[in-house]
Amino acid sequence: MKLYTTISSFQEALDAERAKGFKIGFVPTMGALHEGHLSLVDNAAAMADIVVVSIFVNPNQFNDPTDLVNYPRTLDSDIELLDTRQCDYLFYPSVSEVYPFPDTRHFEFGFLESVMEGEFRPGHFNGVAQVVSRLFEIVSPDMAFFGQKDFQQLAIIKDLVRRLNLPVRIIPCDIVREKDGLAMSSRNKLLLPEHRASAPLIYRTLLEAQKLSCSKSVQQVKAYVISTINSNSLLKIEYFDIVDDLTLSSVDTWNQPGIKVGCIALYAGKIRLIDNILFNVNQQ
Ligand code: PAF
Repeated sequence: MKLYTTISSFQEALDAERAKGFKIGFVPTMGALHEGHLSLVDNAAAMADIVVVSIFVNPNQFNDPTDLVNYPRTLDSDIELLDTRQCDYLFYPSVSEVYPFPDTRHFEFGFLESVMEGEFRPGHFNGVAQVVSRLFEIVSPDMAFFGQKDFQQLAIIKDLVRRLNLPVRIIPCDIVREKDGLAMSSRNKLLLPEHRASAPLIYRTLLEAQKLSCSKSVQQVKAYVISTINSNSLLKIEYFDIVDDLTLSSVDTWNQPGIKVGCIALYAGKIRLIDNILFNVNQQ
């Protein structure tokens, strides 16, 4: 694996790969890598000739300055992990390399950015759009791989690519979970032991909600999830909604057309976690 920190030499190397006819698969990350990221790398290796990973903790997408300061940074172990997989290039730029000038671009995603994460993390998706479009500009990938855990982020990135007509295929990848069901996240490292012990309740509740959707209304399932999570004194729900997977608008009944996804955000102590589950039901 070759490591680059500056755009010009990195682009030269990638141009040489493209000249050989190789297709580039790109996995943008903020580091603190775990099996979830590595599965994105595996997907990229299966579909592309050259795999590029970036590690860049993007200040523009943190609406909470403390969250930015506390975000785990583990470059050495990230490199060790990437060395176990088929990663050809690691791009690890500084903030001034990615943003030589302050990025003042404002992206509009309409309804997609107004709900759920958009409501609770103002400016977050604008920062994500800034960095993803900038990284796409630098890497010019043929395909880019994103985890479905950040379901709304994926919807926003697909919209970004459509709006800017970017020549990159967005490949959604499955959520990877710990053995006890907790969705893998770089933030899991920050959980205190008691919060880590409570966190598997999230996926257990989502699975139960999926079962209940055969016999209960959307409203009853939502109420079930909210009350179950909040009944654990160490977890505090921020939102749970069941939305259409494309428009992200709340669904009222299971027999509305389209795929439905239940999206949850909550605090486990000071750490904010998100997860989601698909409801493939057409009952009621
Ligand atoms: O999902 C993430 O880790 C980040 O939001 C991303 C896509 C790498 C942009 O900084």
